[in-house]
Amino acid sequence: MKPIPRRRLIPVITDLLEYSDAANNTIAYTKGMVDRYGDVCDVSFTGIRSFFIHEPEIIKEMLTTQSGKFKRTRLFRAFRKFLGDGLFTSDGDFHKQQRRLIKPAFYPQRVAEYASIMVQCAGDEMDTWVAGSTININLAMTNITLQVITKTLFGSQLAPELAERVNRDMPLAFAVMGEIVQNPFYVYCLEKEIKIPVVKRFFKIKARLDEVIDHIISTYRKEENTGKLDLLSMLMEARDEDTGSGMTDRQIRDEVMTFFLAGHETTTLALSWTLYLLGKHPEIAGRFRDEVKNVIGNRKPVAADYQALHLTKNIFKESLRLYPPAWTFARECTEDLIIKDYHFPKGSVLWTVTYLVHHDKKHFHDPEDFIPDRWDEEQIKELPKYAYFPFGGGNRMCIGEGFAWMEGVLVLAAIASRFRLTLPDGFVAEVRPMFSLKMKEPVFMKVEQL
Ligand code: HEM
Repeated sequence: MKPIPRRRLIPVITDLLEYSDAANNTIAYTKGMVDRYGDVCDVSFTGIRSFFIHEPEIIKEMLTTQSGKFKRTRLFRAFRKFLGDGLFTSDGDFHKQQRRLIKPAFYPQRVAEYASIMVQCAGDEMDTWVAGSTININLAMTNITLQVITKTLFGSQLAPELAERVNRDMPLAFAVMGEIVQNPFYVYCLEKEIKIPVVKRFFKIKARLDEVIDHIISTYRKEENTGKLDLLSMLMEARDEDTGSGMTDRQIRDEVMTFFLAGHETTTLALSWTLYLLGKHPEIAGRFRDEVKNVIGNRKPVAADYQALHLTKNIFKESLRLYPPAWTFARECTEDLIIKDYHFPKGSVLWTVTYLVHHDKKHFHDPEDFIPDRWDEEQIKELPKYAYFPFGGGNRMCIGEGFAWMEGVLVLAAIASRFRLTLPDGFVAEVRPMFSLKMKEPVFMKVEQL
């Protein structure tokens, strides 16, 4: 068995010394560990055996070959208070069954049907932009992705007052959840339902959301389904091939919450980081606008344009490499495991820091540079499978990957067909790794009509 290098752990003292560094300089802290100790290192804190794994072959084992020997970590118990037993939080056979039921709603032909909603929502947001003014990119992208997920989930017919309630309370719930997951004491209180102020606030918003989503579901149940194509209708009609059974209203509500959480902030961040990178690289932005002009001309983008937008896809792909919104994730071992001659004890937690793997010069030349054309280079064919994995992998791979690609590429194309966005000279965005990879400060860009 190979020994796993570890720093000297003095119980509690090491935690106290390292906690603020790990919390405030997360990327530098994790990079320091990987640089010092290598592709597998023991970063245990008191009470939890934890390992960083940086080696694609081991990541592959964890996500695919040996995935059945892992489960969600403790943090997800807190998430269950919000998402119940949705796809993101559930484990084992139940997760497998839910995944089978939901998968058809994300087949490529379904995703193509959502394309017009994506373009429409981008258009509605751009209609509010005043040429020559400066806009907050993060807010603008949030407006688009929230509208996209609301309309694809519930269709365009959702009563405006219900849509308003959902769009007001979902971001509030995410913000409180974000506050909670940053603090282990808050996580503990949420798990145990100890009513400290932040937990009380969370349950209040959650109760309001449950009420509105339950109301939408019960209205749907009463209506005749006349070939509706929204995600909610598909969840309601999904039947297990073997047993013929469908989901309960409670399960449907959990999945609706899950799609909101998993599907909107990640895409907001991916789009915001991409627009920022294009702002930093005017030459690439020019080539991108030329591609959009050639493929789309003066009309609106449609699903069929997706294939032809080759550089746009490379731009989005490279942005997901440099700034993967899901910058890290973890699994807990359900039994003692041997992977590549390393022993990981039952109950320990394995962390992949996707961000660091994506920035490793072993896999990418000039890893800190934004080079969309690298994805056309010959040597990229040699890239190990888990050296680039912004959507995870294996049985928990992002179910919305195709959706995210369609949304990312078509929203970028819709923007480039109407506006040029520029950054203030010298502006540099810094990362703020929370549950997802946010920006430290909002990014403001000037919009010029084309
Ligand atoms: C650029 C956008 C997105 C990124 C980078 C992203 C990334 C990821 C990653 C890395 C995972 C796996 C996490 C893990 O293994 O622990 C995941 C899971 C998931 N994603 Fe996404 N995602 C994106 C967009 C979406 C969208 C648009 C949806 C739905 C509409 C979605 C729904 C989900 C769900 C439900 C899961 C849980 C799957 C499971 O555990 O079976 N995601 N996502």
